[in-house]
Amino acid sequence: MTSEGASHLDELTVPPDFEMGVSTSAWQIEGDSVGRGRCTWDDFADIPGKIVDGATADPACDHVHRLQEDLDLLAWMGVDAYSFTFSWPRVIPGGVGKASSSGLDFYDRLVDGLLSRGIRPFATLFHWDTPSELEQAGGWTSRSTSEAFAEYATILGEHFADRIDRWATVNEPWCPAFLGYAAGYFAPGRTDGGAALSAAYHLMLGHGLATDRLREMGARRIGIILNVIPTLGSDPTTAEATAHVDGIQNRLWLDLLAGRGIPEDIRRRCADLTDWSFVRDQDLAVIATPIDWIGENYYSVNRVVAADKAGSQAIGQDASMFPGAPEHAFDPQPPFTDMGWEIYPAGIRMALEQVSNALPGLPIYVCENGAAVEEATSADGIHDPIRTRYLHDHIREVLQARADGIDVRGYSAWSLLDNLEWASGWTKKFGMIRVNPETGERTVKDSAEWYRRLLMRRTS
Ligand code: FCB
Repeated sequence: MTSEGASHLDELTVPPDFEMGVSTSAWQIEGDSVGRGRCTWDDFADIPGKIVDGATADPACDHVHRLQEDLDLLAWMGVDAYSFTFSWPRVIPGGVGKASSSGLDFYDRLVDGLLSRGIRPFATLFHWDTPSELEQAGGWTSRSTSEAFAEYATILGEHFADRIDRWATVNEPWCPAFLGYAAGYFAPGRTDGGAALSAAYHLMLGHGLATDRLREMGARRIGIILNVIPTLGSDPTTAEATAHVDGIQNRLWLDLLAGRGIPEDIRRRCADLTDWSFVRDQDLAVIATPIDWIGENYYSVNRVVAADKAGSQAIGQDASMFPGAPEHAFDPQPPFTDMGWEIYPAGIRMALEQVSNALPGLPIYVCENGAAVEEATSADGIHDPIRTRYLHDHIREVLQARADGIDVRGYSAWSLLDNLEWASGWTKKFGMIRVNPETGERTVKDSAEWYRRLLMRRTS
């Protein structure tokens, strides 16, 4: 047992029927880019300066070649479910047309390897790796990408419906839409607010179309994962900006899913950016197609302040992510993770409340939560007490929300492995298991041991 073993953090208990898991995503871990088509993140990584340390998709965690080892680590950890994502260009190089048999084979081995270890496969169709060919034709600003996404969903549904326990269409559509097309921090690196609004809409249209197709193919338990971020602002002079940040970050997606369409205030404030001509009335019912559950990824909160009061730690948090907003800035409060994100465990409960109020009756799963933190390596292991405490405090809040009557059914930690943290490359580490980027070697950190003990206590 590690030095953390005897701490009070080991007093937390999780009900046995509450699903506990761990999450990853394809581009961040798979490597083996020669075995698939190209995606926007490959193109983005090729532009000097876009990924801080120059990291590229290869080898990432070389997960494709180390699959058995990673499956064994999941089994060791004792998770109920593993949340992974399909790489669209691995399944269909080029984004449209025939599926790749080697791509499907890889995911067959992954899914069957999970099932044989008693772990429930939880699959997401899109975690931001848009096939490059589709991006060249407009990407998510084009309706044809939503339609191609529906075809991709059909192929996956047909092949995997009998083996996948829970499906998500899209992970955090806010990120590719607004970090990708408005702020330019993420692939495809565009800086056009109108394009971001169109991308947001077509991602949601893709979600609705894919949901229907998956269901037609026999898939069950279909949902979408949002990153609803509680948006706090107490200054009356920024009330309008706060409402807009909440609108773009949260209400846009929740209202579309609830069948309420695009919030009126967003339409109004963004009138100079787009004429909304891409919206077709008949789409709204497709987007609001009933889902079986909703996912929430939580890391931190948005604290909106006046433009001249920006906090020094507001790394990567800025107004360009919220096109149409009146002037504003962000002022996160300490303590911070390595990402500069405020650690605010009570925020996860607020996020769950917001989701539950917007979509009453829908079961909620926390699909990502975790932290990049300082770690100390010594002869007896990798010590990451801040991560363990972060996980502990957030799980406790989630269980409290459940006790308060919110229908939250599971929690999945981000992440199994250190991996490519998008534009931060290898410089920010979220894993409970270390990956040596040179050798690929995996080493369990204290937080992984702690998580394992938490999971083991449910049955002992
Ligand atoms: C989420 C992403 C995930 C990871 C974490 C830190 O927004 O879904 O891929 O990068 O942030």
